[in-house]
Amino acid sequence: MKLIKHPDDILKQKLEDFDFDQGINLEELEKNMISLMLESNGIGLSANQVGLDKRFFVMKLQDPNTPPFILINPKILWASEQQSEFEEGCLSFPELFIPVKRPSKIKVEYIDKYKNTCIIELNGIDSRCFQHELDHLDGICFTDKVSKLKLALALKKQRKNNGRTK
Ligand code: CO
Repeated sequence: MKLIKHPDDILKQKLEDFDFDQGINLEELEKNMISLMLESNGIGLSANQVGLDKRFFVMKLQDPNTPPFILINPKILWASEQQSEFEEGCLSFPELFIPVKRPSKIKVEYIDKYKNTCIIELNGIDSRCFQHELDHLDGICFTDKVSKLKLALALKKQRKNNGRTK
């Protein structure tokens, strides 16, 4: 399993629902995606970021007692009117950090690897991470969520940082 980086058409693709009848080994898929996410220092990783075209992602909650897990066919049921802005990164865009505005709290539904439908509420970084990963499944990257000006500033900073570390 390999991390797909920008630019790649699969990152712009709207993915189809995951089909449990296709006999995909979910335990193994989850394990491989979580190891790749953790070794890349990420808190979320979507199917298309590893070249797969179905709707699922893995994420790691802020609560250290909850192990990272896979979320299949995820949906947002409710989003707060209140929004917050926070600097996001993305494993497919190394060294790029962009302040993105999103609803602060959300209520979501997903199917877990045992085919149970789960409904949970998320806030803070967890809420942000879920929304960022769900966007990936719709072919939307965080660079699409901000003005051209904000993106230009972030790209300039990215180039500066690259210059410093190389
Ligand atoms: Co991302």
